[in-house]
Amino acid sequence: MRIGFLGTGRISQAVVTGLCSVVMPPERITLSPRNAGIAAELARRFSNVRIAADNAEVVAASEIVVVAVRPDDAEVVLRRLPFRAGQKVLSLMALVPLTRVRELVAPAGAVRLLPLPTIAQREGPIVLYPHADWAEKLLEPLGEIVAAGSEAELETLWTATALIAPFMEHLAAVGRWLEAQGVATARADRYTRSMFAGLARLAATSEATLAELRDEAQTPGGLNEQALRELRGAGSFDALQRSLDAIAARLAAAHHSG
Ligand SMILES: NC(=O)c1ccc[n+]([C@@H]2O[C@H](COP(=O)([O-])OP(=O)(O)OC[C@H]3O[C@@H](n4cnc5c(N)ncnc54)[C@H](OP(=O)(O)O)[C@@H]3O)[C@@H](O)[C@H]2O)c1
Repeated sequence: MRIGFLGTGRISQAVVTGLCSVVMPPERITLSPRNAGIAAELARRFSNVRIAADNAEVVAASEIVVVAVRPDDAEVVLRRLPFRAGQKVLSLMALVPLTRVRELVAPAGAVRLLPLPTIAQREGPIVLYPHADWAEKLLEPLGEIVAAGSEAELETLWTATALIAPFMEHLAAVGRWLEAQGVATARADRYTRSMFAGLARLAATSEATLAELRDEAQTPGGLNEQALRELRGAGSFDALQRSLDAIAARLAAAHHSG
């Protein structure tokens, strides 16, 4: 399998790392030359990765082309590239609707994909729309495939990806508090990471609903019940909902104006 990447930024770096870490990595991965630093690093790390002279060479050399440029660059980058019938495109771009992607890469076929940076570790969700056997086969070793039921659903799931930085800050805030109470910095850091990693694994693998897991963690009159009540009272979870509403509205506005 020969795979090409248009746009070698942060998410391509994660996807290429994941792809090259599976038992049977793709025979050839061809990267567009920008960003030069990331492309050079990937070519150094993985013997099946090479850097093309330009975007046209990426398309010519690949059976599957991953489009991972910023949405504003889509038109300029994709227009006039030598896409061919039978070729397959995975668009990672936010905000660019499938119909527009398909127009830009015709006569190749295209689907949309939402990976997270955790794809580098071959973990986490990978949203796909619409379903395509070839894409599922490629992505299956890289995480948990979530088949969106519609493009609107893909966009709604995209909204939740805005919570990556708040999630990290949640952990950082816990670590800072532990440290302020006198726990050694390294221990506070390790404890916080390990605690939330364990809880995330429990949530990911348990057959209980998330509401059941929440309730199981609360002994009546206990510490978890108190913390949950106080955070709820302070409007923590309302703020989360409001932020998701605002992100969804921003995505919808950008989508329609774009
Ligand atoms: N980051 C994520 O977690 C994530 C997740 C899902 C989807 N996405 C989507 O993936 C796309 C890329 O996101 P990103 O975070 O990886 O952004 P990024 O780091 O800015 O990567 C975009 C890359 O495209 C390159 N580029 C610009 N013009 C180009 C051209 N004419 N030809 C080839 N490459 C060109 C840029 O090079 P320069 O640096 O030299 O300008 C940059 O390296 C976006 O559409 C985003 O919506 C991102």
